[in-house]
Amino acid sequence: MLKVQVHGQSHSTRTHHLLFPKPFLHGGEQAFLFITNSRTSSSIKGNKRAQLSSKPSTIKAVASVPKKCIKVKAVVTAKQTIGGMITSLGIERGLDDIKDLLGKTLHLELLSVELDEKTELEKPTVKGYAHRVGKAEGDVKYEAEFEVPTDFGEIGAIFVENEHHKEMFLEDVVLDGFSSGPINISCCSWIHSKYDNKHKRVFFINKYAYLPSQTPEGLTRLREEELVLLRGNGQGERKVGDRIYDYDVYNDIGDPDSSPELSRPVLGGKEHPYPRRCRTGRPRCQTDPLSEKRLRDFYVPRDEAFSEVKQLTFSAKTMYSLFHALIPSLGNVISDAERGFSYFTSIDSLFCEGINMPPLSKQGFWKTMMPRLFKAITDGPDVLRFETPPTMERDKFFWMRDEEFARQTLAGLNPYSIRLVTEWPLTSKLDPAIYDSFSWILYIIYIPFQGMNINFYRMFQAIKRRKLFILDYHDLLLPFVSRVREIKGTTLYGSRTLFFLTPEGTLRPLAIELTRPPMHGKPQWKQVYTPSWNSTGCWLWRLAKAHVLAHDAGYHQLVSHWYAIMVTNTLCHRTFHNRNQEAAQCDASIYRLLHPHFRYTMEINALARESLVNAGGIIESSFTPGKYAMEICSSAYDQLWRFDHQSLPDDLISRGMAIEDLTEPHGIKLTIEDYPFACDGLVLWGIIKQWVTDYVQHYYTDPSLVASDQELQAWWTEIRTVGHSDKKDEPWWPQLKTPRDLIDIITTIVWVASGHHAAVNFGQYSYGGYFPNRPTIARRKMPNEDPTDEEWEIFLQKPESLLLATFPSKLQATKVMAVLNVLSNHSPDEEYIGQDMEPAWAEDPIIKAAFEKFSGRLKELEGIIDERNANKDLKNRCGAGIVPYQFLKPFSNPGVTGQGVPCSISI
Ligand SMILES: [Fe+2]
Repeated sequence: MLKVQVHGQSHSTRTHHLLFPKPFLHGGEQAFLFITNSRTSSSIKGNKRAQLSSKPSTIKAVASVPKKCIKVKAVVTAKQTIGGMITSLGIERGLDDIKDLLGKTLHLELLSVELDEKTELEKPTVKGYAHRVGKAEGDVKYEAEFEVPTDFGEIGAIFVENEHHKEMFLEDVVLDGFSSGPINISCCSWIHSKYDNKHKRVFFINKYAYLPSQTPEGLTRLREEELVLLRGNGQGERKVGDRIYDYDVYNDIGDPDSSPELSRPVLGGKEHPYPRRCRTGRPRCQTDPLSEKRLRDFYVPRDEAFSEVKQLTFSAKTMYSLFHALIPSLGNVISDAERGFSYFTSIDSLFCEGINMPPLSKQGFWKTMMPRLFKAITDGPDVLRFETPPTMERDKFFWMRDEEFARQTLAGLNPYSIRLVTEWPLTSKLDPAIYDSFSWILYIIYIPFQGMNINFYRMFQAIKRRKLFILDYHDLLLPFVSRVREIKGTTLYGSRTLFFLTPEGTLRPLAIELTRPPMHGKPQWKQVYTPSWNSTGCWLWRLAKAHVLAHDAGYHQLVSHWYAIMVTNTLCHRTFHNRNQEAAQCDASIYRLLHPHFRYTMEINALARESLVNAGGIIESSFTPGKYAMEICSSAYDQLWRFDHQSLPDDLISRGMAIEDLTEPHGIKLTIEDYPFACDGLVLWGIIKQWVTDYVQHYYTDPSLVASDQELQAWWTEIRTVGHSDKKDEPWWPQLKTPRDLIDIITTIVWVASGHHAAVNFGQYSYGGYFPNRPTIARRKMPNEDPTDEEWEIFLQKPESLLLATFPSKLQATKVMAVLNVLSNHSPDEEYIGQDMEPAWAEDPIIKAAFEKFSGRLKELEGIIDERNANKDLKNRCGAGIVPYQFLKPFSNPGVTGQGVPCSISI
């Protein structure tokens, strides 16, 4: 039996006492209220575990047999919060101060891991009040003293009740007084006021990263009860401060009650397959009972929200300033929403003169909230002046060059689309009765290329030698073309872009095929463009590239980037929903491993639904597909998303960018050796996998434990069948039977939250900040698509004007530039992968050593990347005017640095 490690002088006192601080009592050095536990204890049906009511005990003085006790001191650390300071003048603050003075700030109860030997019920808790003892560096300290009977058994958990009227951020609790040393309880959670919610919070001590089968009997019921509480039951509206993690479809993107124009289909279900989001339970719309009203806050469980702790407010402040102040103000300043740029020099002026912004009620607001975008000008108006992206800084004409267009498919913002061509002619999966699936690219012959002609024979040879690659946005976009073209101010094609791998290991664009399906009585229109050596051909090629780049920019945001956020958000549910393993559905040790990789992701998901992907939001108003953006996102999920392909090696193999080769370090051989994203990504993948392997093997020493772990199995089942219920029957879902399966699944999740997201997020301003390099929208059709004489003449007279008119409008461009700048930013409190050890890991020497090894390898990766970027043979990352590939360097300073891999998707 586990025993309290007796320390120091034991002495006698009475059973079931509460220690109250002196102000409540008179005349003694130390005063106890002696109690009998009147709670009804009863066996849980089907087992011998006890029922322990959370109702307060009835306290009365009784005589009892003296028992030996030890003194235990609890030191509680809470964070001083911004909310706490702001509300410090309120009347409730005054009441809370009185509570502090009276020493009744927090009510604590210690729980034994054992059941009572005689009754087989849970032992009565040992209770006490913690009182405030001081404040230092933003931390507020509280202390409580307990008399713990020597036969109490080992302490496994602690109940906490907040006697304040305001919630409180609890950092940790340390119990001292045991011969074995202090017991640490890492909380990192918001504790509601007991006046708002009577439910006591429970935290388990760090050393108990229990496998379910090893959970002590005295704690089993608590884990089960907490799980029920956190799950919710699909009913009721969530309130601020709730901790319920429930699922729902994406039915809050539209706002049909405001305008029929803002009506959007529900995403999730047979018609529009989609993962599930966090349920908010808001009332349904009057005009569309399937959609939720967007009236109130976008709920996230309390511990998933941006912290109010002072140093952690950066992301929240900047994001809210962006969406609620800057974007609306831009709309006011740039009154003509459709007006584009007349000259390229007027684009340049965004980085020089900037845009004068209207003063807000608080002078200097802009400079304070968004200092990087608003330069410090002491006199005159606040000026929105964009930073010059490093790409443009190094080479002003980088965006025009074909080799840079191709290089960015391997080392740019979206390295997830390029794939090997494995069949010829290219085929389509679309219905041939509606769409002509025949690719005209088949007829590209005699493309002059490096002194040779690419003809049919050479094309087949190129495919055989794995040298032909493609950006294929044909099947995904074509079904939306006719609908998108009904929207004013945008247009769309299906597109295919072919590249050839040169002997130097770089890609060279060969041809772009743009397709418009039959529509409005017109037959299909399809055209192939190639690099040209005549002026008209050059300008048509340049315009065709602008269309492909707009397609790629949309795919990047709606698939490569948004999927990482959306899918990780789905994983947050129910899996890792508690900061102290309380009733974590999956095994607690796995929860601890994954917890750092979900920080703020649900909040980011909620913010995106509120302002980015919503009807009329940034994506719809500034990207080519307009109001069909999220339907395209759903279509991509339906056609393309597979969990097993989220692993980097499997993703590369699925795109033909690698083949299995067990002689290679990561078990695969890259098709393009100098593929910067894949090269650095595979090293990072390997480092993550080793860490996960060390961790899993430490906890799952017996391989059969994985298959027999009911909580772990339930977790995985729920991810597949609830979080991704529209794909629950897919055959590709990995099994979870062995530690190897678990390692692969966890490594994939960690990779998506860290490396994958970093690769597609922190270069957004570098490559998208100068928008001609990645226009988010192409507003004009190609000049040779059913042109009138006048249109063609205008193109011939001034093709540059047509290119500028095809690019985003000034309002669209500046909105997107501001968003990309903010999204590319590392906050000062960013948590990078391998940087901070979870407190529980530090207490296990083996896990501690494994983490240190993990951290050390990540530091080595920094050097590996630096070395690669200096290698002149690697022409996709080193050369004149090229920005080095650093997106997967693990660490970074704050700001827009183009490097740094945070643990989680927090922006
Ligand atoms: Fe992001």
